[in-house]
Amino acid sequence: MGEQIDEQNNNLFMTLNSNLVTKEKIDINSIKFKKIIFLYESALKTMNLNIELLRDELKLFSNYEPIEYIKTRIKKPTTIIEKLNKRNHNQTYEDMFRYVSDIAGIRIVCNFKKDIYYIVERLENIEGIRVVSKKDYLQEPKSSGYMSYHMIIEVPVRISDGIVFIKVEIQIRTLAMDFWANIEHKLKYKNDEISKRQSNNLVKYAKVINNIDDNMQVCADKISIQKYEKMVVNVEQNGKDNKKRIL
Ligand code: GTP
Ligand code: MG
Repeated sequence: MGEQIDEQNNNLFMTLNSNLVTKEKIDINSIKFKKIIFLYESALKTMNLNIELLRDELKLFSNYEPIEYIKTRIKKPTTIIEKLNKRNHNQTYEDMFRYVSDIAGIRIVCNFKKDIYYIVERLENIEGIRVVSKKDYLQEPKSSGYMSYHMIIEVPVRISDGIVFIKVEIQIRTLAMDFWANIEHKLKYKNDEISKRQSNNLVKYAKVINNIDDNMQVCADKISIQKYEKMVVNVEQNGKDNKKRIL
């Protein structure tokens, strides 16, 4: 029975895929393109909901609030075409599915570096999603100084024709990394006109920011240990008081 359903799903998946993943030239004004973008929007909404639920669950059940904010965006059609051209791919639906992995993008901004790794672990374990790749630019920052954790995942999107797996790029970073990346993006990313000296300065500031992130983490760890120790002392004191009352 299970196998039959799997086979049915697989057939639907193949049919749907073969209708969409074609060698046809992309027409951004066509119904087909609109349908494809709808699939990316669906994947993005599904993932966004998963992350919001994770954030709310952590707050309610563990009083843990690692996520400061979540941002989502769909890449503009003209930017999709530009990216294919720039990388010498064909302007076809097949190449768009295969090579443009950031059509649907989510950014999760956390407080601390440890939060990033916690979120990565929780995202990996969401049922049904497939992790395509992970890049840890915290361990190995880019030459620009850029730091973030990147994941490409595939989210199953169910429509009446069947199931299709759609790529979503997730960037996870701290508030400090986000501050740097936003400003650097405006000043430099994909802009060759900036001088070597200014470029070096931006790398230097990324390092300063990384240092602040590390210090904030140490500070937070110390405060949570103190909080825990205080709690233990209170529990012990309450225990003693109760004992006295009973005696
Ligand atoms: P893109 O073609 O730019 O998407 O890069 P990629 O395919 O090599 O993937 P990568 O994971 O390295 O980067 C993807 C995204 O990360 C970019 O679209 C940016 O949003 C962000 N990013 C990467 N490098 C930098 C950087 O040096 N500065 C800033 N501000 N953002 C960066
Ligand atoms: Mg990108």
